[in-house]
Amino acid sequence: MTKNSEPRAFITQYMRLLPAPSVPEISLYTAHPGSGLWRLLGRDNDTPPYWAYHWAGGTVLARYILDRPETVAGKRVIDLGTGSGIVGIAAAQSGAIRVVAIDIDPLAVVATSLNAERNGVTLHAVCADILTGPPPQADLILVGDLFYAPSLAEAVLPFLKMCRSADIDVLIGDPGREPLPRADLQLLANYPVADFGDPCESAPRISGVYAL
Ligand SMILES: C[S@@+](CC[C@H](N)C(=O)[O-])C[C@H]1O[C@@H](n2cnc3c(N)ncnc32)[C@H](O)[C@@H]1O
Repeated sequence: MTKNSEPRAFITQYMRLLPAPSVPEISLYTAHPGSGLWRLLGRDNDTPPYWAYHWAGGTVLARYILDRPETVAGKRVIDLGTGSGIVGIAAAQSGAIRVVAIDIDPLAVVATSLNAERNGVTLHAVCADILTGPPPQADLILVGDLFYAPSLAEAVLPFLKMCRSADIDVLIGDPGREPLPRADLQLLANYPVADFGDPCESAPRISGVYAL
């Protein structure tokens, strides 16, 4: 299969559908050493395939939602920076009436749609950058591991504050990465969860769910 192969076929053929670490209720197509992801991405691609791995921020937020379905039940939810879709899938499983999963990476949208199908839930996966637009039509914005780079954090935080001013609730899952705007956040819960790239033998990271 080559760089231009159809992404759905590549993901189903070369990745493994595995229970997510710390969130076994959700199975995700996950890359492994034999996946050869470069064949899908292209050798010169500089967009990391975040959607192919598990991240502590999304993991902790998904865990929180599944343990407290009342957080999302009956609400219109946006999963911003959806990656694999883990947070949006948790919201759909927990009774959200509408889930829109948004990412700037078109492959994340493909992976999220596939993962949602495999977990038997419906969500709308959209490729868009909404950070410079108006507050979306939503009751709750879920943000899993989007504060991983200072420049991105500088764009995300004002957008989320604008959403809060428009009465949209915001929940953030994060393992305490450097750009996380701690001063603006209220810690709701902590869980020990795995993060992609951590050595197998290392202890899980204490990661937090925060309200903005
Ligand atoms: C570290 S991954 C986290 C994925 C998922 N939320 C999780 O926790 O497993 C960050 C994701 O945010 C996406 N992203 C980066 N900038 C974005 C933006 N401006 N709007 C939407 N998504 C963005 C990336 O493409 C990537 O899929």
